[in-house]
Amino acid sequence: MRLRAFKPADFKTLCELDAACFAPSIAYTPDELAAFITQRGARTWVAEVGGEIAGFLVARARQDGCVHVVTIDVKGSFRRRGIGRALMDAAEGWAREHRLSAIVLETSETNQAAQAFYLARGYEKLNRLEAYYADGTAAWRMAKRLKS
Ligand SMILES: CC(C)(COP(=O)(O)OP(=O)(O)OC[C@H]1O[C@@H](n2cnc3c(N)ncnc32)[C@H](O)[C@@H]1OP(=O)(O)O)[C@@H](O)C(=O)NCCC(=O)NCCS
Repeated sequence: MRLRAFKPADFKTLCELDAACFAPSIAYTPDELAAFITQRGARTWVAEVGGEIAGFLVARARQDGCVHVVTIDVKGSFRRRGIGRALMDAAEGWAREHRLSAIVLETSETNQAAQAFYLARGYEKLNRLEAYYADGTAAWRMAKRLKS
């Protein structure tokens, strides 16, 4: 597995992966994903296995000193092989390099796998966001304070 920076040629595959990873009410539209990837302060890592895109993570450094993880997606057939861990390590390392103090993200309250993944990495549930997604599902805002 290798991590590399996003290239525009990846975009279609990333859209397909996001649509496969999330319910339609949670997945981003191609326009939304393009806006997140290109917004000021954003960075996208792509994980490749044997030349195939196995996952990606989009994050953004915010003015308030936090990094926001916009999305992390690992293809079903590549899960539980440490790819999510490597993507989060990259985002957390980037945040530390920029002396940012915390990483924040939102995850559906029904997404037990993601909650277990983040809790195992030392993230805490901060607050529950009522009707956060288009279908009315709530989310947990989770965060991890970073030591420099
Ligand atoms: C959540 C997600 C990114 C995890 O990626 P992954 O590559 O499978 O995770 P890793 O293999 O790096 O797992 C690291 C650790 O997280 C925990 N973990 C990961 N998936 C888990 C699951 N389904 N159940 C319980 N714990 C889990 C485990 O502690 C795991 O370590 P272990 O395999 O040694 O036990 C992946 O399941 C995914 O893309 N899901 C769909 C999209 C999604 O829900 N994204 C997050 C939304 S905010």
